[in-house]
Amino acid sequence: MSTAGPGVDTHEMVLIHRVIRREFGQLPRLLRSAADDRARSKAVGAHAREMLDFLHTHHTGEDELLFPLLRERAALDPQLMDRMDVQHTQINDAVAAVGAQLPAWTASADAAAGEQMAALIDATMPTLVDHLAEEEQELLPIVSVTLTQSEWDALGKHGMSAIPVTRRLVILGHITEEADDAERQRFMQVVPAPARLVYKLIGHRQFTRETAAIRG
Ligand SMILES: [Fe+2]
Repeated sequence: MSTAGPGVDTHEMVLIHRVIRREFGQLPRLLRSAADDRARSKAVGAHAREMLDFLHTHHTGEDELLFPLLRERAALDPQLMDRMDVQHTQINDAVAAVGAQLPAWTASADAAAGEQMAALIDATMPTLVDHLAEEEQELLPIVSVTLTQSEWDALGKHGMSAIPVTRRLVILGHITEEADDAERQRFMQVVPAPARLVYKLIGHRQFTRETAAIRG
C-alpha cells in the first residue's frame, strides 16, 4: 500500500549528487598533485576524508531510510532495487579501500599510494556516475509520490547530522556551488535562518578560500 503524499520535492538530492560527481571527479587529480608534498597531502587528505564520509553518509541514509520503504511499498521494479544495492556495495567497497589508505598517505604524501587511490577512484567513477543518474531518472520521480514529507525530511536530517557543526558552512558551499539562483533559493529554504545569515557573512568566503587552495 502506498502512503503517497501530494508529491515531495526531491530536488535537493540532485544538488547532493552534483557535489559527489564534481568532487570525486577531481579527486584523482588532487591526489596525484600532492605527490611527495606533505603540506598538500594534509589539505587534500582532509578534503578526501570529508568527501568519502559525505558519500558514505548519503548511501547509508538511502540504505536505511529510503530503499526499505520503496521495497516495502513495491514502488519500483525489484530488479532496479537489486541493481541499486549492488552499485552501493561496489561504491562502498571502493570508499572503504580509499579510506583505509588515506590516513597514511595524508601523513606521507607517498606518490605510489596516492596513485593507487587515484586509480581506484577513476575506475569507480563510471559506476558512481551511472548510479547517480539512474537514481535521479528512475527513483526520484517515484520517491516523490511514495514517501511522505516527514519520511523524506528524515533522510535530509540523517545527512545533516553526520556533518560536524564546524564543517556545515563549507558543505553548504559545496551543495550550492553549481546551483542556479532558483535552486539556491529553494535549497536555502530548508536551511535555518541563522545559518543562512552566517553563510552569507562568513561561510561563503570560507568555502571559496578553502576550495581554491585545495583545487590549486
Ligand atoms: Fe542519492
